[in-house]
Amino acid sequence: MLKLPGNLSAEKFLAYHWQKKPLYMPRALDNVRPSVTRNELAWLATLEDVESRIVFTDRRGDRKQYRVETGPFDDEYLGALPLRDWTLLVHDIEKHLPALRKLFDHVPFIPDWRIDDLMVSFAAPGGGVGPHRDNYDVFLCQGIGIREWTYTSAPIAADEAASSDLLLVEEFSGEQKICVEGDVLYLPPGIAHWGTAQRACMTYSIGMRAPQYYGDPDLELSEVIPGYISKAALDRAGEQTTELGRTVTEVKEWLRPEPPDEGAVKQLLEKPSQKLELHGMARVAYDDDHVYVNGKHRKVTEKERAAVAELCARRSLDSTRLVALSPDLVSWLASKGAFEIPEIT
Ligand code: SIN
Ligand code: CO
Repeated sequence: MLKLPGNLSAEKFLAYHWQKKPLYMPRALDNVRPSVTRNELAWLATLEDVESRIVFTDRRGDRKQYRVETGPFDDEYLGALPLRDWTLLVHDIEKHLPALRKLFDHVPFIPDWRIDDLMVSFAAPGGGVGPHRDNYDVFLCQGIGIREWTYTSAPIAADEAASSDLLLVEEFSGEQKICVEGDVLYLPPGIAHWGTAQRACMTYSIGMRAPQYYGDPDLELSEVIPGYISKAALDRAGEQTTELGRTVTEVKEWLRPEPPDEGAVKQLLEKPSQKLELHGMARVAYDDDHVYVNGKHRKVTEKERAAVAELCARRSLDSTRLVALSPDLVSWLASKGAFEIPEIT
């Protein structure tokens, strides 16, 4: 877990900061592990099903303009980038490199279904995406290098002229922090922020998601159980009860796990392997009555719910526990792309 500053407990973080107020956490991590290298990030940016962007800072006198190019990029293009003033951003890293999901263990006090993705950026000196606001909570974990962050809770006007596609805001002055490896900055939604690489650097952003109608500034630690959408969460969502679970487990079309063929599912049911693993890209959650997989939902019995809870907590299930799920539910989960199904042998 992140080392929160001072005597701040996870409960106090939720009470005073979550969805309310930024928090700068110097040395919150010993270092960012597991990590990705600059070369791995560049390789991901060459792939078709990986969402990547490069933002260039064009300096014209005092005025800065930001230009975005979207991936995939070819090797030569990446190899020929200038020495300064650009940043490469790659989304959904933990789905492409499942080992990186471990970084989410640093925020065990936030429901895992609130986490959208891990985005990693590599910035050349002077690089950054410009002053902007995001509409989600984010933990910005500093990897190698040095980045200067400026942020403010003051309302800052949009700046379309700097770039029409980056949702930028006007340059502003605010709280300033120089972040080195291991420093973490938490920002709630809507806080203007601006990170500029002082030295070539990598930033790991744990970004959250929630439907527009959902907010949880009253989140309590006792609700936080892997995969579990608590009663309090359903209350916050009002009437749209299964809508919440479906929305938070929805996957981007190009990241939707392929469902296995029927033969493989049949074999799974007849000859279960040692361990059933959740697919690296699968999003699974449950509430007291339903299980949600990749945007779809289904009713579960109490016994099934216990097995689903285990599946969410470990992202795997021992074959001996598979019997707790009806064959029908196992086939349904598999058909929605929940599992890593071994090849038919
Ligand atoms: C970055 O890593 O450069 C951008 C992160 C952010 O501001 O949301
Ligand atoms: Co941002």
